[in-house]
Amino acid sequence: MKNKMTISQNLIILTVVASVVALSTTGRAEEHKRPTIDASKLPPAATKPGVTYEGDIKAIFEKSCVKCHNAEKPKAKLNLTTLAGTLKGSGDGKVIESGNSAKSLLVASVARIGAEDDWMPPKDNKANIGPLTVEQVGLIRAWIDQGAK
Ligand code: HEC
Repeated sequence: MKNKMTISQNLIILTVVASVVALSTTGRAEEHKRPTIDASKLPPAATKPGVTYEGDIKAIFEKSCVKCHNAEKPKAKLNLTTLAGTLKGSGDGKVIESGNSAKSLLVASVARIGAEDDWMPPKDNKANIGPLTVEQVGLIRAWIDQGAK
């Protein structure tokens, strides 16, 4: 009896250790996941010259993003209310690659070309904020391609 107890206790401890290891490994993989972007699915960049955050992009973010990505309680720690916050990125790193919109996570998210979980604004969000238009995505691409000023 004493022996059996020890064996099952050992088994329980082993199971707990194994689950903790498994959980922490998947957790880490999840944290750094950055989807590969199929740039051929993106709408083209706008041809407008001199696109800036203050002049063109801020208004788009204010309408469709800052309800969730503000300074107070930013989702994914991403604050889109300022240019500096946007360039800094999320808790997982940069969401914009200046000069290369086709490689920018933010563009893939708003263009909704990747996994549904990554779409922005999220599908069926409670605030009822709809997707960006193709023109808005094109303007964001032009802004990033021109150096995200
Ligand atoms: C209704 C709330 C909501 C709105 C509106 C919203 N987001 Fe998000 N966003 C989230 C949440 C929640 C996450 C975190 C998702 C996750 O971790 O799975 C997120 C994550 C992101 C990420 C990924 C960050 C990373 O590094 O993984 C980007 C980029 C992003 N949002 C951009 C935008 C943009 C641009 C807009 C506006 C066009 C927008 N979001 C609108 C809630 C929102």
